[in-house]
Amino acid sequence: MSLTPPPNPELDELKRYLRDRHGVDLSHYNRSFLERRLGIRMRHHNAESLGRYLKILSENKQEFPQLLNVLSVNVTEFFRDGALYDALRAKVLPVIERVSQSRSSREIRVWSAGCASGQEAYTLAMLLDDYFGRHSPSWKVRIYASDIQEAFLHEAKAGRYPKEKAAQIPPEFRRRYVAEAAGSIEVCPSLKGMVQFFKHDLATPPTVELVDLVFCRNVMIYFSLDSKDHILRRFHGCMASGAFLVLGGSEIILKSDLFELADDWHKIYQRIDQPHPGGDQPNAGARTHR
Ligand SMILES: C[S@@+](CC[C@H](N)C(=O)[O-])C[C@H]1O[C@@H](n2cnc3c(N)ncnc32)[C@H](O)[C@@H]1O
Repeated sequence: MSLTPPPNPELDELKRYLRDRHGVDLSHYNRSFLERRLGIRMRHHNAESLGRYLKILSENKQEFPQLLNVLSVNVTEFFRDGALYDALRAKVLPVIERVSQSRSSREIRVWSAGCASGQEAYTLAMLLDDYFGRHSPSWKVRIYASDIQEAFLHEAKAGRYPKEKAAQIPPEFRRRYVAEAAGSIEVCPSLKGMVQFFKHDLATPPTVELVDLVFCRNVMIYFSLDSKDHILRRFHGCMASGAFLVLGGSEIILKSDLFELADDWHKIYQRIDQPHPGGDQPNAGARTHR
């Protein structure tokens, strides 16, 4: 029995159009995800086929941003899956601290890859500032946060969110790191100063290096298996020795010689520093200094 879906020439044509006309490369995206998402826009226009939808897309300037919107599931929140952050504090940060001490580093680097409007990055900033502030106050924490969509990055940099989002933040952190104004909340300047937002497409090589912790949650859903594999290899190449990778609750690494499971429930993985010698990992283990 073949698991390969039948060819879909109309989808191929639409992908070609988006690549050639808008420079958007959908070749990495999971096919059923793409078909589901395109279906939303097709229904909106009563387009009975992808060919018909492509005609609408090419004739109507307003349609392209709408399509980008549905291709980007942008739901995010502060302290999303709260117990994950308890597990990080209890199990992961002490290991990162120990490993960093052993290489006499005083800087902790974290990358929130696919950060949407920034809540994940600010959550990590609060957690790490609190943890290292108590344990190793002279250490510097740097959070790198990237997304493919500039509109999200704009919102993220402003660090201002509707007031009702405050309830997602534990009261102690809220008191220390968030200012409440009429109708909105804003993360405090010291927190903003810890986070550097930048545009980055995960289908291209990373621009950060020697990272101690990578968060890439609820993003891999966009990618085909092959592309996921490439991304994991790139993560491995830019991570420090003994570093951790955290995926979304429903995302798993099926089989890898680059990462081992550290916490199954919370989908926390640890970098394997010396992957199997027969493996094909160009960057694996290449960096041993910071
Ligand atoms: C559901 S949000 C996840 C936000 C956050 N990580 C979380 O779990 O709450 C997915 C994000 O991935 C971003 N994204 C999608 N494709 C991407 C790509 N190729 N490179 C970088 N980010 C991408 C989207 O723009 C969106 O902001």
